[in-house]
Amino acid sequence: MPDQIRVIIVDDIPETRDHLTKLLGFESDMEVVGSAASGPEALELATRLNPDVVLMDINMPDMDGIATTELLSTRAPSTSVIMMSVQGEADYLRRSMLAGAREFLVKPFSSDELTASIRQVNARERHKQSSLAAAPTASPSVAGNRDPGQVVAVFSPKGGVGRTTVAVNMAVAAATELGRKVVLVDGSFQFGDVGVLLNLNPRNKSIADLAPELESGGEPESLDTFVITHSAGIRVLLAPPSPEMAELVTPSAIKKVLEKLRAENDLVVVDCAAAFNETTIAILDTADVILTMLSLEITSIKNMRLFLEVAEQLGYEAGKVRLVLNRADSTLGIRVADVEHSIGRKVDHTIVSDGRSVVYALNRGVPFFLSNKEAQVSQDILRLAASVVGEREEVEVVDERRKTTSRKSLFAWR
Ligand SMILES: Nc1ncnc2c1ncn2[C@@H]1O[C@H](COP(=O)(O)OP(=O)(O)OP(=O)(O)O)[C@@H](O)[C@H]1O
Ligand SMILES: [Mg+2]
Repeated sequence: MPDQIRVIIVDDIPETRDHLTKLLGFESDMEVVGSAASGPEALELATRLNPDVVLMDINMPDMDGIATTELLSTRAPSTSVIMMSVQGEADYLRRSMLAGAREFLVKPFSSDELTASIRQVNARERHKQSSLAAAPTASPSVAGNRDPGQVVAVFSPKGGVGRTTVAVNMAVAAATELGRKVVLVDGSFQFGDVGVLLNLNPRNKSIADLAPELESGGEPESLDTFVITHSAGIRVLLAPPSPEMAELVTPSAIKKVLEKLRAENDLVVVDCAAAFNETTIAILDTADVILTMLSLEITSIKNMRLFLEVAEQLGYEAGKVRLVLNRADSTLGIRVADVEHSIGRKVDHTIVSDGRSVVYALNRGVPFFLSNKEAQVSQDILRLAASVVGEREEVEVVDERRKTTSRKSLFAWR
């Protein structure tokens, strides 16, 4: 069967290898093509067989799972590694991701968790490969009479740095000042604040009402029923009303939602969670631009450095990740130049601190971009919005001059 996911199992304990092989034997879309008891054996096998997925034990004598993964990512770059560990600590996860692993499973895991992870990483890799090889024609999901919109993720590896503030106001700025059709998605599925900032609290209108249908293969005609039109000129897809409903939004469901919204809008702004989990990675993978927010705090800067390393491992092009320094004029003893020196790259955008405008707007449930457009903080946000959507136009202009067949061909990163 050509579409089977080819898997190699790497674990120094023979019983674990046998057990996993048996488990996967029940799945008709997967085939275990080999197993290895050590890192060097795994490298030899993977280089020869070029599997889709390697299930890698983290703790092995001699060469551990992390070192093996690191070598594997250069020798078999199209192979996705799922790391398995009895330790669930953030440090293990982070080191695995940095080494190039695409998923991290904490033992003991259920067979459902295992197979879902294998399918997810495999689908992600295939999606990446097909986008890289994309022909200069529209993809089927966006075929139709409008050009696909841009997906912009507002992310930060640390909470409380202003993601929601920037996402909401940037969406409003792009709609009201730049005339774009904009939808704002609250991608912080557990503790989303977008509804609070926009004073929205409807029943049965959130991504939780939509995701299960998409996940089970349903294809709603349009997402209009679930998207709320706000008086600020934008449309909004809210997060689930309670944290436990967040798990209804799976990585594949959020991808489908974003692709559908992209087809119906010029700009899709996603306010991401700070957690670096599978759903967030699905959003970041789908995004054209990741506005990564940081503040002038040591912890924020440290986390940013780690995120930039992870972003590189995930294969994001340098231009996809943009750094946005919020409250850039705060006098906390750290200067912008110090930040740039510490993370080894330039900050792309800065936004001033303006507690008065921001908090006043927050308490009234009206975006400050509407109530105080002249304020410096609003102007900074407008510049950010213009740069995000303007970049696309520059590409279009270049494209017209070269008279190529389709402007989509230039979006190699899509
Ligand atoms: N430029 C700014 N000037 C002044 N205050 C700001 C600015 N940006 C954000 N804030 C304030 O900082 C706090 C955090 O902002 P916000 O909720 O947007 O961050 P977040 O990254 O979405 O946080 P969370 O992790 O809670 O989702 C809020 O009280 C907000 O009003
Ligand atoms: Mg937030």
